Amino acid sequence: MELELTDMQGLAIRGHGHLPHAHYVLMRFTGVQETKAYLKELMPLVTHAGDKAPEVARQVAFTYSGLAFLQLPAFTLGSFSREFREGMTESHRQFILGDTGEHAPNDWAWGGDPSDIHLLLMLFAPNDEALGQLVTTELTRASSFGVILRISLPTGMLHDQKEHFGFRDDISRPLITELVKSKDTGNAPTYPMGEFIMGYKNLYDEYAPSPLVSKDSPGSQVLLPHPDYPDFMDLGRNGTYLVFRQMQQEVVRFWDYLKSQAQTTDEAIALASKMVGRWPDGSPLVRCPFASDPSLAEENDFGYWEEDRSGLKCPLGSHIRRTNPRDHLVTETSQKDSAEMVAKHLMLRKGRPYGEPLAETMEVSDLMIAQEDGKERGLHFICLVTDLRRQFEFVQNNWVNFHKFGGSEQDADPIIGNHYQKDQVITDRFSIPAYPIRRRLENMPNFVKVRGGAYFFFPGLKACQFIANYDGI
Ligand code: HEM
Repeated sequence: MELELTDMQGLAIRGHGHLPHAHYVLMRFTGVQETKAYLKELMPLVTHAGDKAPEVARQVAFTYSGLAFLQLPAFTLGSFSREFREGMTESHRQFILGDTGEHAPNDWAWGGDPSDIHLLLMLFAPNDEALGQLVTTELTRASSFGVILRISLPTGMLHDQKEHFGFRDDISRPLITELVKSKDTGNAPTYPMGEFIMGYKNLYDEYAPSPLVSKDSPGSQVLLPHPDYPDFMDLGRNGTYLVFRQMQQEVVRFWDYLKSQAQTTDEAIALASKMVGRWPDGSPLVRCPFASDPSLAEENDFGYWEEDRSGLKCPLGSHIRRTNPRDHLVTETSQKDSAEMVAKHLMLRKGRPYGEPLAETMEVSDLMIAQEDGKERGLHFICLVTDLRRQFEFVQNNWVNFHKFGGSEQDADPIIGNHYQKDQVITDRFSIPAYPIRRRLENMPNFVKVRGGAYFFFPGLKACQFIANYDGI
């Protein structure tokens, strides 16, 4: 099936990398009719994926409480996935995601009360001045319709595509079959669009579950019928779910801990790289285990089954092996089974860092000696998935925070895991396979703290139009 690019929001296909200045604005509606009037004005301005290099970009996403506030038909609201309807902070889900203790939502800056946030407006621009103008225009527009600014999250890219600990990020992305069909992707596996965007077939050769609208609902003609349920219109088509987590990073704590575990600076960097699974320049440990190799900074065509089943090069519990174990999952008995199992739990990452860098150069040698400046910094982690539970929640629960992942006993993801010792469960260790004796780091504090978060529906453009114009009340 051809991709309907002009019906998809641009972020579905690209990261708007040519627009490095961005602002994420979280808003709350106050009046139903005023909000609809606001959306009628805003929706035609939303950037679609057919526009390859927009001058600025506007993207929108709604929480469940936002859609409920707009009084979409009860049937439609009920057809969204349970995870989306219940929200990220539902009490059971806090345990699934590891949002307990230091990560608990009652301490979050936003999202702890899911009814407080209705709309996420993402604004992208080429420079600070253009972004300032865009933000002012959009906040003025919103407030004139009684739409209240709740939280404003400036966000920006760091030197050399780094995240705040000093490692190159955003290297590994799932290749989408429909997008690369004419390109030579070597041995790299590709994945169907339906894993990330609704309206297309997924790995089960099915259409991803999608919210629906009855054909009788006023305004539904703007949508297309769902291919499996021709009596219903497909509100999800060309849209998806968007996970947003604001993750504060404790850079000084991270490097102080590593220095305390190492005799030399080089050893501290090597230990940190073992935690990530790549060297600071991005080169993967599985390909260059003893020293970074800048020629491999973009390398992503590798697996673990043939190259490193014991984790001697890249620890089984490293961040990249937990979040994407590729072709080696210790619970599976073959490379093929592993790859097929793991493929069902991928996500399309779209996040960007926020806050000033601790060292402008973003070199780890500078970050390691920088003094604490008391400023908040971190990652606005964003990913797109068609199935919140099978993709994002599964990874958080079974791989990131599971203390027995990969045969370990007391480890969680060393970068983003929730590290604690409680009721005989210990998760603050990190095992580094080595010959003849493995190494184990202990008493790791949390290096990352969740500061806010929510699940959003990231609609296609026709769905945006339906939401803005629905008037069944
Ligand atoms: C502050 C928080 C985080 C930091 C500092 C961080 C850092 C990194 C770095 C440096 C990489 C290597 C670059 C790459 O392979 O593209 C990476 C990869 C990755 N991260 Fe994170 N990350 C964070 C949060 C998360 C979260 C919350 C998730 C999802 C649960 C996640 C999922 C992934 C995935 C799927 C990969 C690619 C792994 C692969 O395909 O090999 N990350 N991250």
